[in-house]
Amino acid sequence: MSFKLAVEFIALKDVRRSAKGKKAVAAPHTLVVFAGADLAMGEATTKLLGDCIETVTRAAQAAGFKGKASSALELWAPVGIDADRLLVLGCAPKQGPDTPAPADHVSIGGYLMGKLGSKGTADVVFDLPQSPEALAEAAADLTLGMRMRAYRFDLYKTKKNDDADSNGALSARVALSDFAGARLAVKARESIAEGVNIARDLVNEPPNVLYPEEFAKRAKALEKLGVVVEILDVKAMQKLGMNALLGVGQGSAHESRMVVMHWNGLKGAKAGKGAKAGSARPIAFIGKGVTFDTGGISIKPAGGMEDMKGDMAGAACVVGLMHALAARKAQVNVIGAIGLVENMPDGKAQRPGDIVTTMSGQTVEVINTDAEGRLVLADVLWRIQSVYDPQFMINLATLTGAILVALGTDHAGLFSNDDELAQRISAAGNATGEKVWRMPLGPAYDKMLDSKFADMKNIGGRHAGSITAAQFLQRFVNKKPWAHLDIAGTGMASPASDINQTWGSGWGVRLLDRLVADHYEK
Ligand code: BES
Ligand code: MN
Ligand code: ZN
Repeated sequence: MSFKLAVEFIALKDVRRSAKGKKAVAAPHTLVVFAGADLAMGEATTKLLGDCIETVTRAAQAAGFKGKASSALELWAPVGIDADRLLVLGCAPKQGPDTPAPADHVSIGGYLMGKLGSKGTADVVFDLPQSPEALAEAAADLTLGMRMRAYRFDLYKTKKNDDADSNGALSARVALSDFAGARLAVKARESIAEGVNIARDLVNEPPNVLYPEEFAKRAKALEKLGVVVEILDVKAMQKLGMNALLGVGQGSAHESRMVVMHWNGLKGAKAGKGAKAGSARPIAFIGKGVTFDTGGISIKPAGGMEDMKGDMAGAACVVGLMHALAARKAQVNVIGAIGLVENMPDGKAQRPGDIVTTMSGQTVEVINTDAEGRLVLADVLWRIQSVYDPQFMINLATLTGAILVALGTDHAGLFSNDDELAQRISAAGNATGEKVWRMPLGPAYDKMLDSKFADMKNIGGRHAGSITAAQFLQRFVNKKPWAHLDIAGTGMASPASDINQTWGSGWGVRLLDRLVADHYEK
């Protein structure tokens, strides 16, 4: 992040209505209030604005401001208020096609941050016309959205121009009746925002900087939070027989790595206390970490190939999630595992036609070296289930272009062998706005992977590309509850939104954190 954002919570009575000295300053003070449909305002807001309400009403009419979420009325140097700016933020729930969606305080926070910019001070009067049931949680969500919107990735910009927010600092105070509750609730949100922004950094980094070894080093940094981080190098993986993963990386000048992260939030003093039977068994998240995917010998076309630096968004999400869980000291035992390789064409690279023996013992005929993610995941999935016997495994991968054809960028593809797990993931997706859409699995699709020479091929043919990829993964899951999220459309190059303005979205961190919080903590 390139400008400093400080957020704190205060009591409503401590709101600062005036700008110090009243002179125009380079770092303006903004007073933020909320209005719903028909300019409805909370009691405290009405009182605070006093006579100024008339000005606001006139301005709203003139500007056509109706209080809709993702809209605002902006008054600079308003008469009667000595803040440099009065910002009236719409918060009426967006109307869906049939039901009105609940107010999304994360998005409102993101929109607010976009309006505030990167300089100055702001007092945000979090007094909504319809007070949310969990007010403190809503205020904490607002600041989560602010932090997500404030994210910048400008590490490699050496020329800072005037309008860039390189040296800015924004200090915001959010005022509400239950400010004490908000101060408690915000702790977890800060951890989650950090997790999302770490995932984004990893996805945005260029592939010459972030190759497997460097990625592993970044994951290792989680140790400062108490995560145990194990790094397996090529030799260690050879010993284990992880030939499918190693085959993908063998054409690269950079060595492959596998990283296993352990967060044991249930160990020690709290273990057993109120824990459900069996819940000390870990849950496992597994990520595809292809730090660059050229396609290998089955090389991709040049146009847009630079996007394939994001082919590690699954692994980035797992690292961001582990950060979030450890930083908020989640009461759960979790394993995060990532397979890190670079897929390059080379004299040593894997060929179409090669047959590899995976760690599971099953053999794979590599028809297309560009279908590499599934080869990496096959060995990591196998290793994790056989060593750690987790309650479930969820893997994330930018696995197929076909999922973009099917679902675009608004939903990730969900594949699962377990209805309960699938249902829980869908619900967490709806709750966080990181939506998933369940896709089918079945023996007819599985058959498409049959090979003339080996136990299976690594591609299924022209049709149902996302499903056959998922079927391939399922062959490395021994009936354990498992879900695969194909995030090729959501993990990178996703459209800008109120809470995301960057290329690497950090998709999945919030969804999976919510899944854990709702179902797997003691
Ligand atoms: N990393 C790609 C999938 C991808 C495509 C991710 C677009 C993000 C955006 C994956 O490794 C791949 O190349 N898949 C092939 C599979 C095919 C060879 C069966 C694809 O989707 O074309
Ligand atoms: Mn590929
Ligand atoms: Zn790939």
